[in-house]
Amino acid sequence: MKDITLMEQSHQNPILIVTEHGRMVTANPIFTQRFAITIQELKGQLIEVSNFPYLIGKLHCLTILSVLCIVKVNKENGHYRLTIFLKADEISLPVLKQFLSLLQEKEQYTPKTHTANYEFAHIIGESQKLLEVKELAARIAVSSSTVLITGESGTGKELFAQAIHHASPRRKGPFIAVNCAAIPSELFESEVFGYEEGAFSGAKKTGKPGKIELAQNGTLFLDEISELPKAAQGKLLRVLQEREVERLGSIGKKRVDIRIIAATNRDLFELVSAGEFRQDLYYRLFVFDLPIPPLRDRKEDILPLVHYFLDKYNQQLNKNVNQIHPHLLKCLMEHEWPGNIRELKAVVERGVTLSLGEELGDNAMVKRIATQTSQTQCLPSNNTSKTLEEIVKETEKKAIVEALEKSDGDKTMAAVKLNIHLASLYRKMAKYQIKT
Ligand SMILES: Nc1ncnc2c1ncn2[C@@H]1O[C@H](COP(=O)(O)OP(=O)(O)OP(=O)(O)O)[C@@H](O)[C@H]1O
Ligand SMILES: [Mg+2]
Repeated sequence: MKDITLMEQSHQNPILIVTEHGRMVTANPIFTQRFAITIQELKGQLIEVSNFPYLIGKLHCLTILSVLCIVKVNKENGHYRLTIFLKADEISLPVLKQFLSLLQEKEQYTPKTHTANYEFAHIIGESQKLLEVKELAARIAVSSSTVLITGESGTGKELFAQAIHHASPRRKGPFIAVNCAAIPSELFESEVFGYEEGAFSGAKKTGKPGKIELAQNGTLFLDEISELPKAAQGKLLRVLQEREVERLGSIGKKRVDIRIIAATNRDLFELVSAGEFRQDLYYRLFVFDLPIPPLRDRKEDILPLVHYFLDKYNQQLNKNVNQIHPHLLKCLMEHEWPGNIRELKAVVERGVTLSLGEELGDNAMVKRIATQTSQTQCLPSNNTSKTLEEIVKETEKKAIVEALEKSDGDKTMAAVKLNIHLASLYRKMAKYQIKT
């Protein structure tokens, strides 16, 4: 217990200690009680920590199924200390782990690194469909044109964005990622466009460059572009047209030389029809369209990906899992993969973590998924094997469908029932493709 000080032993919040590489080391008694796990059991379990250096010292919140989860990341003696503030008692360790990985992704607007880590060679897959997309992306990369990457969640849109930057003449310049869904709309303009000193109360004395300026001579990656607030859409359009940026409170403009790559998992065209997304901006972004097919449409990629992730987790966990149980294999091939490659990666990670021998599937957990999934089209019914984002989305969709049913399709009434604005209901209906 050397990593938990006496004070923390009696601390009222769950605390978890993780190594720099994401391996759990120990936890305080509140943690082990809350998550019903022994130190022995949690030791060595992995969580993603690549983004933790940028999360240190602050509180990070996410709402999951209307439960507010808050975590504080600190660094001490070369380890991360995570203090967890939870209102719900029933949240399980797998859910917490998913929360932490979601947090990693949602916080990406905090500059992770100013470089892109992935190249085309890191995009695994041998299917004709994927090879075609890679080839198209490589051809697009050499220009400075705007690219719109579309595809379901977890298909690898961010990976492609990084690879395009890497293969472009701007590769030595910065790669700045902005997650449009993660920045509160009231902060969006100051974050992206920057501000001059005294632009608003609370503004830094010296002013601050926005992400657009930071991406000078490089690539600006606008992730989840569909979530861009309306006011910011107009401003972004101006930047794209005039190649100039104006900080909040500024009287002058600065020339910018950036390439824009945007990504979305929603149908932007539908949002344009619904009046949620500016048509002029849509056409500006739509210079090159790069659709990434879902994994179920390129099943030839499943096995190469499984082996790639096996190598990765074998290395990380110091294991030697090199075979796949035939039943699990069948299941992997039949599964529909709603969470795409992200889901597959999580399944392999879980399998390797739990495996005692050299075979993936040689343990109760994976077997349970396998039997469950072979009966139900390989769709795990257990919530904990989905990402939180998926759980939230499913729950939201279900609530909307129910409200619409109860209101006999009257959208105004359904919006009142759901306590959301009518426009927001339309947006969500488009997002989930709910028709009345
Ligand atoms: N072809 C691939 N080869 C290797 N890893 C991949 C591949 N495609 C995706 N991944 C991995 O799967 C995970 C999800 O990919 P990514 O974050 O790029 O998805 P996304 O399309 O941006 O999803 P979202 O819409 O949810 O943001 C990442 O960990 C990524 O490294
Ligand atoms: Mg993404």
